[in-house]
Amino acid sequence: MPGAIYAEGLVKTFGDVRALDGVDLDVPQGTVLGLLGPNGAGKTTAVRCLTTLLRPDAGRAVVAGVDVLRHPEEVRRSIGLSGQFAAVDEYLTGRENLRMVGRLYQLGAREAKARADELLDRFHLADAADRIAKTYSGGMRRRLDLAAALVVRPPVMFMDEPTTGLDPRNRQQLWDVIQELVAGGTTLLLTTQYLEEADHLAHDIAVVDQGRVIARGTSDQLKARTGGERVEVVVHDRERIGDARAVLAGFGEGGTAYEEHTRRLTVPVSGGARLLAEVIRELDARGIEIDDIALRRPTLDDVFISLTGHAAALNGEGEGGDRNDGNDGNDGNDRTGAGGKWSE
Ligand SMILES: Nc1ncnc2c1ncn2[C@@H]1O[C@H](COP(=O)(O)OP(=O)(O)OP(=O)(O)O)[C@@H](O)[C@H]1O
Ligand SMILES: [Mg+2]
Repeated sequence: MPGAIYAEGLVKTFGDVRALDGVDLDVPQGTVLGLLGPNGAGKTTAVRCLTTLLRPDAGRAVVAGVDVLRHPEEVRRSIGLSGQFAAVDEYLTGRENLRMVGRLYQLGAREAKARADELLDRFHLADAADRIAKTYSGGMRRRLDLAAALVVRPPVMFMDEPTTGLDPRNRQQLWDVIQELVAGGTTLLLTTQYLEEADHLAHDIAVVDQGRVIARGTSDQLKARTGGERVEVVVHDRERIGDARAVLAGFGEGGTAYEEHTRRLTVPVSGGARLLAEVIRELDARGIEIDDIALRRPTLDDVFISLTGHAAALNGEGEGGDRNDGNDGNDGNDRTGAGGKWSE
């Protein structure tokens, strides 16, 4: 039986651009799939196809047990979507926005009100609840948009870069909310550009590049493939570099690199934080003073370089590291609701 979200051979082209070039996905019920990829990889296009906002040129998709191409309106009843660009009504207050969504989804007035209050609290918007959304900061809008997607507790959720633009505290809080949702049985597909986020939230990760899934697995499996975990030590005293190097050699799984001007030694390892503690103890026991020590985990770039031989930022359309500076021709207000039509 296919999972709660299932796709086979999805293709979507925009003129010469093959935004999706045969994407297969399978997300078991109650799990989280992280769709990880750089700008222009096709993440949003995949989400839009699966949420009935865009009709794929080829392929098949089943969401919550319903064929997406045949019965889009039925799919819409079972899903929640928080798009890449927050879709809130600027001229309503936060509270009104959430109540309106509740009413659109046929909650009774009392229930819609209670649910709005609960979510405003949850997303730390209670103080701003009665201000129009136009006056909200970017992070507040983002949170309001996510709250709106949760009003009806849909069994299948899609979140397109849910934490982009959130500060660390709000990001952490959103992670907590997501984990609770999933513990309650919700199936979630989320897109992200942060390996750390996929790592934290997703049971399974699909790495997308140029419209294709180029790797698939748990974060541990991907990291093992990348082999990017390493310990970096900045040695205080240049004379002790040799001694420090000998210590690191005992823990490393490969040669130790040395960067002269920063007095930084880097060695590939596996074993995470526990190993880091051991390295510190050993350096200390030999009286080697250090200025800095860190365990570096593979980043999205490391994963990409190892999988594709090129850096993530070279993909897409040369947008480099700049986030959210354009919307790639997608209309911003992605929200499914009753009655929408396919767009081409
Ligand atoms: N409506 C559209 N018209 C034309 N081209 C489009 C449209 N939507 C997407 N594309 C193109 O399809 C490709 C994939 O875009 P998509 O928005 O799916 O990427 P993404 O992985 O979500 O990127 P980002 O991280 O920047 O959000 C890009 O080359 C984009 O320019
Ligand atoms: Mg996108």
